[in-house]
Amino acid sequence: MFSKEGKTNSNRKRINEETSISKNKKLKKKTAIGPNSENGLVTSNISAGTSDAIIKEASKKKKKTPFNDVANDVKRSTAFPIPTGLMSGKASGKASGTASEKASVKASGASGKASGKTVSYKNTTIKSYCPSSPLRPITKSMAERIRLRTKVLEYKEQLAEVRRETVEIKEYNRAIESRLPKLHDELIQIERDYEEQAAKYDEEFKKLNEQCDVINEDNNISSENIVNIRKDLELKKDKIIEQKLSYESLLKQIQENYARLKIEEDTRKDLHNQHLDLKGNIRVMCRVRPYTDKENGIERANLKCSDDKRTIQVSTKRLRLWQMQTEKSTYEFDHVFDESADQNEIYLELCSLVQSAIDGYNVCIFAYGQTGSGKTYTMEGEVNNPEKKGIIPRSIDEIFDKIKETSKLGWDFKVYVQYVEIYNETIQDLLTDEDKNRKKSCKDRKKSCKESKDLCKIVYHEDTRMTIIENAERRNISKKKDMEILICKASNRRSKSSTNSNSVSSRSHGVFILHLEGENPIENMSSRGSLNLIDLAGSENIDKSGSVGDQMTEAQSINKSLFYLRNVIQQIKNKSNHVNYRDSVLTSLLKYSLGGTAKVCMLVNVSPLAESINETKKSLSFGQDARKTHVGTAIKN
Ligand SMILES: Nc1ncnc2c1ncn2[C@@H]1O[C@H](COP(=O)(O)OP(=O)(O)OP(=O)(O)O)[C@@H](O)[C@H]1O
Ligand SMILES: [Mg+2]
Repeated sequence: MFSKEGKTNSNRKRINEETSISKNKKLKKKTAIGPNSENGLVTSNISAGTSDAIIKEASKKKKKTPFNDVANDVKRSTAFPIPTGLMSGKASGKASGTASEKASVKASGASGKASGKTVSYKNTTIKSYCPSSPLRPITKSMAERIRLRTKVLEYKEQLAEVRRETVEIKEYNRAIESRLPKLHDELIQIERDYEEQAAKYDEEFKKLNEQCDVINEDNNISSENIVNIRKDLELKKDKIIEQKLSYESLLKQIQENYARLKIEEDTRKDLHNQHLDLKGNIRVMCRVRPYTDKENGIERANLKCSDDKRTIQVSTKRLRLWQMQTEKSTYEFDHVFDESADQNEIYLELCSLVQSAIDGYNVCIFAYGQTGSGKTYTMEGEVNNPEKKGIIPRSIDEIFDKIKETSKLGWDFKVYVQYVEIYNETIQDLLTDEDKNRKKSCKDRKKSCKESKDLCKIVYHEDTRMTIIENAERRNISKKKDMEILICKASNRRSKSSTNSNSVSSRSHGVFILHLEGENPIENMSSRGSLNLIDLAGSENIDKSGSVGDQMTEAQSINKSLFYLRNVIQQIKNKSNHVNYRDSVLTSLLKYSLGGTAKVCMLVNVSPLAESINETKKSLSFGQDARKTHVGTAIKN
């Protein structure tokens, strides 16, 4: 091996010589020389030995080698005198680079003078320098060697590359392998989870399928049912329309019948009243008061009113022969009002009697019944409450309205009022403002009344068969309003006290008397009627009511006077030769009503409580007896 430097210098010398010769020749031959001819000369000086080093260098630089530049120059020039060896070197550099396949270098060997050796590169044939050149020509074997060496270097490089890659791949593989067991475990877990989940979904899916089947079945049944129901509905609809039509015609008939019935009922009542007038019997009506708020939870009596409102049935339980037996008693009246009857309903049944008073009859309506059964409520009610007004204020309303009406026919009526109470067999005037006696005890009141010159006396007017209370105020009232005020005052003056049975128990019989005196100068007629509205004190079981002292005396007096009343009615009923009207103040006052020509109506008030059942039965029994009593035909004054 020669030294690199020495070799280069000798080559440089040779190249310089060659350059000068070729310059001349080239000038002569006008050979086209490219811009890099200098390069070409430099490279042509490279000997075969230096070409290896150049190739190695080129291999090191890999991408940018002088061969590339040469090749580029070759591209640009069609005929360039590049030494074959260099061309090969360039070609091999190319081959080790990127485009080795594209370039093929052919060394055609030494040829004629002009052509010399040719090198082809990419379809370009490059003529080699002249064989006569002092440069050593590149032999075929040299070129082959260079090519092989290049190849070997190339392969080595590739091998090194492959080795590096192999190492990298191995490292990568190792890394992957180290992760493999974990990934494997994870995969197994995922598989398990998946299977579990899949099993669950399978089960749910099965269930849903089953539910779907059931729903489908139900739906089928339901849709069948719906079709049937629709058919049914259509049929029923037709029937309903038919029934509606027949219902409407029936309703019409019922309304017509009802109207007819109403007329007939009114006629029946009129006839019945006329019959009673002619017969002269006492009309007796019964009223069952409703439960009050205070009585919630207290046992009810078994009272049943008939549909025609003529009878009331009382059922009681009794122990007989060691057995509980139900006893039923039925009582008949001219009318029975059950608990639901309001004040107006009661008045409507009695208003014909009020009319009779205007027409000139003596009318007497009295409320009878045990304490707390609703007598005062029925007779007075709540005077200032239009719905709860009792018989007295309603009668006043009607009388004043009728008087107004009849005035158009020429009638002039005068209304006189007396309001008294029978307290412990004495008559107390409720219209007087002097109430000096009222505050005294009952004994003192009785005494003072007897001693007093003002003692109220009962006086009978034989001609008019009227009863007048002497020394009791007799007021002429011309206005409804004045009358209402008067009644309120009088009612407040009445003796009342609280007992076990009634918190506001009347301790006297209240007697409200209206004298109606009418004149009709046009017709030359006159009329004298009276309306006696009596709120009796209630019969009382003294043990039960817990009355003591004055209250007991009052209760005894009340019970005694009621006994005389029953007695008188009994005597009248039995047509006794002598009737003991004088036994009590009450019977004395009712003489012309019960035994004369008056129209009399008794209201029997009963309590709805089971604890009062015995008193209720007694009252009903008395009322039924009184109804059979013939008091005489009413006569108009
Ligand atoms: N029809 C009714 N509707 C509503 N409440 C009524 C009715 N009847 C009576 N009452 C009430 O029942 C209670 C007793 O009634 P009321 O004072 O009229 O009895 P009475 O028969 O007059 O008793 P007494 O003989 O002790 O005077 C009162 O609180 C009254 O308001
Ligand atoms: Mg009362």
